[in-house]
Amino acid sequence: MAKQKITYNCTQCDYNTLRWLGCCPECNEWDTFKEIKPATPTSTPVGKHTPTHTVPPTVMTQLSSIPDQKQQRIFSGIQEWDRVVGGGIMPSSFLILTGDPGIGKSTLLLQISNRLAAQHTVYYFSTEESLQQVKLRAERLGCINDKLLFSDQASLHTIIATAQKDKPDILIIDSIQNCSISGAQSLPGSVGQLRESAFQLMRLAKEQNITIIVTGHITKEGMIAGPKTLEHMVDAVFYLQGEDRWHTRMLRAVKNRFGTINELGFFEMQHNGLQEVPNINEHFMRELSHAPGSALASIIEGSKPLMLELQTLTIQSKLAMPQRVISGVEHKQVVLIAAIIEKYLKIKLSAHDIFFKVSGGFKIKGSATDLGIALSLLSSYCQQPLPKRSISLGEISLTGQIKPINQINLFVREAEKFGIETLFVAKNQKIEKTSCKVHRLHNVYELLSLFTEE
Ligand code: TYD
Ligand code: MG
Repeated sequence: MAKQKITYNCTQCDYNTLRWLGCCPECNEWDTFKEIKPATPTSTPVGKHTPTHTVPPTVMTQLSSIPDQKQQRIFSGIQEWDRVVGGGIMPSSFLILTGDPGIGKSTLLLQISNRLAAQHTVYYFSTEESLQQVKLRAERLGCINDKLLFSDQASLHTIIATAQKDKPDILIIDSIQNCSISGAQSLPGSVGQLRESAFQLMRLAKEQNITIIVTGHITKEGMIAGPKTLEHMVDAVFYLQGEDRWHTRMLRAVKNRFGTINELGFFEMQHNGLQEVPNINEHFMRELSHAPGSALASIIEGSKPLMLELQTLTIQSKLAMPQRVISGVEHKQVVLIAAIIEKYLKIKLSAHDIFFKVSGGFKIKGSATDLGIALSLLSSYCQQPLPKRSISLGEISLTGQIKPINQINLFVREAEKFGIETLFVAKNQKIEKTSCKVHRLHNVYELLSLFTEE
């Protein structure tokens, strides 16, 4: 039999090695390695001497014989939240809300808890902040509600014991990283403790029918601090992000066993907490400029079309290797479209520096913005604005053809709402009746007709 080797495991980040090390190469912590002895095999190999007659067999079931159990979802009344979590929270589920420090996780969770407390019993464990601090925030948010009960206990066993005894409908823990497990040798927030806490909370949720929402920090790399494995252990993971200029907070599901993961919710941080922004496009449209280099394009996030301004500045380069400073879309998408323009329209963009961004600091993906990028580049190059109140919705192929895009009618309905008058689309794009003027384009050669020759 092969000799089983002793391994060493970092108690901070779970890194494994065959040699003992003083400093962990993964998390750079010192003196964190523990020896792991190989488990001694306790059972004999299956098929040899397994005493199958001692284990009672299970009974197999047909799914059609299982009674239907339609569970009522839990609604908070904060619509952006309810939509992103999949149409209300599924009872007995275990959710994580995560995001950078200071982004507003505690604020959002307190507001949600307050709304949920109107119909459910909610226990809120603040493991990071004292009850004084929580009270100050609650006063600011107008969330003083006698039905919402608080504790600053951070011991996981105490939290679980309390929940098992009182059986609240909803249990909130802010944050899971600060929960401590008594008797554990690792520090609170270490991978081992996080996994153990998540495992115990998941059991509590399923066995006692308690809905659990916890907050979790993320690291600089954008992962939930500690293990990515935590994501696999819970029912749903939501990120609260805020990268744009208006400090809009975006709530995004990255995993949801009970809903889609594409929905986006928008909030704005105000003096009285996070307020819903039901129509984010109003923000975008307010700031739309009618200037050379600006083109309006749209992408679909979840069920919502977002209307975004693409901005380009092209300028004759003084460098041997012209600059390409691109943010908001994939670098190669802009470079490719610049190459298509150069090849077919004989416009020497390769001798120009190109600066490109998406307004508001948004990051977008997808080829439906190809036409918008091309028109934005040409508009800056020709130093002429595109027609006022126009939007570009099309893909561009490598052969320079403008191609139709999917879900065009969703984009068009949204554009109509905001007074868009002209649509630039592919020649064979099918569109339902619209009040906008539809300008059909066959290939990139036709793009030049939008600009007058000087
Ligand atoms: P917080 O919810 O504590 O963030 P997290 O739990 O993600 O670390 O939010 C902290 C920030 O929000 C802080 O910088 C202050 C700001 N804030 C407001 O602007 N308005 C408010 O009503 C509240 C409660 C916080
Ligand atoms: Mg917090």
